[in-house]
Amino acid sequence: MAIGVLTAGGDCPGLNAAIRAVVTRATAEGLEVVGIEEGWNGLLEGRTRPLGRDDVRGLLRKGGTILGTSRIDPYIHGEGLPSISGTLDSARIDSLVVIGGDGSLRTAARLGEDGLDVVGIPKTIDNDIAGTDVSIGFHTAVQIVVDAIDRLTTTAESHNRVMVVEVMGRTAGWIAAAAGLAGGAEAILVPEVAVDYQDLASRIVARHDRGHHYSLVVVAEGVPGPSGEVHSAGVDAYGFARLGGVGSAVSARLEELTGFESRVTTLGYLQRGGSPTSYDRILGTRFGVKAAELAFGGRGGMMVALKGDEVVPVDLGEACREVRRLDPSRLEDAAWFFA
Ligand code: F6P
Repeated sequence: MAIGVLTAGGDCPGLNAAIRAVVTRATAEGLEVVGIEEGWNGLLEGRTRPLGRDDVRGLLRKGGTILGTSRIDPYIHGEGLPSISGTLDSARIDSLVVIGGDGSLRTAARLGEDGLDVVGIPKTIDNDIAGTDVSIGFHTAVQIVVDAIDRLTTTAESHNRVMVVEVMGRTAGWIAAAAGLAGGAEAILVPEVAVDYQDLASRIVARHDRGHHYSLVVVAEGVPGPSGEVHSAGVDAYGFARLGGVGSAVSARLEELTGFESRVTTLGYLQRGGSPTSYDRILGTRFGVKAAELAFGGRGGMMVALKGDEVVPVDLGEACREVRRLDPSRLEDAAWFFA
């Protein structure tokens, strides 16, 4: 039996830890592992390579993915299972481990319905996959944002400025909420809660009147800007909005309403780069080990998930049916510290 493994969708730190764990656990069982290059594209184009224990040594600390990734989809760019079955057969892959975000996991679930033995591992810095409490990559992204907030706070303080930090997350505010709380932001703007810019400006002015001559505002990329529109730079090759740009609009509006100088920093792809935190190394490793066990144990159609502190199997189709939005009550603790 051979187990295939691929990474699909946007990359994030911790993917290599999961690949390493799948390979290590499966080969310990005497099984072969086949790495598929560039996500689903490798299956469509027949690009695979054997992965042994030696191929994954030293990977824990390495960001990105050694397999490469893409947003190519076999149902959009091919005819679904028939267009990848040639590669699956020639590589003798009986079970496929898909390390992906909600889109890639939905594709995996559909292939599962069409007859493929598939196991999912949730990854995305956005942390918006419904079936798991935490996805690979989220923790590292949050730490990167917190490090940036710490640095931006000292320069904001020196210049009496309102510093706006735009973070990723698509339609969910998980990164903004966690990083804003950990970084001690004065305000956290998320897509799940309507923003009253006038009220925000009044709170910032009141804070400055109390002697705090700077404010730090975290805004998630999916928040509608002051004009009411979600900011994007068009759509990507697959028709998905490329979100980004709301930070500048928020900064300009707050400068206008408060009279204080404001600056914006968009953290962008920095949030997906570099070495994973210890949390993501551990999560990637635990998910990879469990996914391999499900794959060779004949438990296709499942996704590994973190529930509390336990790694458990959940139904793959159910796990990615909906996007997991931030529960606004998550902001309650942070609100005590707002301007
Ligand atoms: O889903 C992860 C993510 O980084 C989002 O936060 C962001 O909106 C998007 O991917 C960017 O995607 P791309 O790599 O296609 O530009």
